[in-house]
Amino acid sequence: MAVQKKMIKTIGVLTGGGDCPGLNAVIRAVTKTAISKHSLKVIGIFDGFLGLIENRMHQLSYDDVSNILTRGGTILGSCNKANPAQYPVATSSGKKRMKDLRDDCVHHLHQRNIDALICIGGDGTMAGAALLAQKGLTIMGVPKTIDNDLYGTDITFGFDTAVTTATEALDKIHTTASSHHRVMIVEVMGRYAGWIALYAGVASGSDVILIPEIPYRLDKVCEFVRRRSQHGKKFSIITVAEGAKEKGGKMVVHKIDKYSPDPIRLGGVADKLAREIEQLTSLDSRAVVLGHVQRGGTPTPFDRTLATAFGHYALEQLMAGKKNCLVVRQKGELTTVRLADVAGKIRTVPKTHPLINAARGVNTCLGD
Ligand code: F6P
Repeated sequence: MAVQKKMIKTIGVLTGGGDCPGLNAVIRAVTKTAISKHSLKVIGIFDGFLGLIENRMHQLSYDDVSNILTRGGTILGSCNKANPAQYPVATSSGKKRMKDLRDDCVHHLHQRNIDALICIGGDGTMAGAALLAQKGLTIMGVPKTIDNDLYGTDITFGFDTAVTTATEALDKIHTTASSHHRVMIVEVMGRYAGWIALYAGVASGSDVILIPEIPYRLDKVCEFVRRRSQHGKKFSIITVAEGAKEKGGKMVVHKIDKYSPDPIRLGGVADKLAREIEQLTSLDSRAVVLGHVQRGGTPTPFDRTLATAFGHYALEQLMAGKKNCLVVRQKGELTTVRLADVAGKIRTVPKTHPLINAARGVNTCLGD
């Protein structure tokens, strides 16, 4: 249902989930458009939904968002553990129980006369936003994540920078792998989707790319690197997504974060593969985990422009009366999809993706 344009005088903005390059570019675009074009008041909410639950907010001025376009991270802070509908609170016995704090969040927004909320985040944030929207709030989501796995959009900001960082690292690994005639297994992030591994793997000319969408066969991977070595290619580069798993096997879990809305933290598959490959092929193997370095740094020009376009569009859509939607890019155009339609879903790499075909075309082993 549309809200009246004149009803929005104050907006809140928050960044939720794991951080990524480009968050500040969105905050800047939202705030500058809101202040200069629509004379709105902008309230920045600290640490995502956690700040909303704990009532920690601060008015943002035009100056507050100047000079942040190129800065990684988020000036508002973020949190990937707070779901307002299911938040762990301590009981008198010292144990924790899950409580629905959405009414408290609504109250905190009303206290500051916040008429609409812009939630910049990934699938966890959008799921939380969809639940908050059920309480009668006006929300607009903006899709961020290095994983590029948000349902409903062809691209998220942060992904391009993460791929650039991973590719640069892989290029560096290439030279040392070559010098020492080693198999180097490089683990990249991405959770249950192989977007980062596929793009950085192809961009760096990796010999093997392993993604969650195509469970690998260890014997095939070993045969491939052994054959390379026998044919004079004394080294191999394997790019592996943290969510990759052996056919019939399971993803490698690093830890369980019990109170996070998404409790599973993946990690360790590169180490596992390095041990197995070395044992089965006798080729010297090493594992490298790129980890959170992929979430840092200055956003690429692509991510700066995408984030700016998303932020501006999100604000304009709110002012035009749209609510409870996610701003997305589909086939090169900006549009919106309903939050309720994307919540709880992720977008993985289709097995027929053109880049998978291209990788196969240049004789990259995908482990199947
Ligand atoms: O969703 C972004 C992401 O970096 C994933 O690629 C990764 O699996 C996860 O977050 C790591 O989470 P944390 O920062 O809690 O370790």
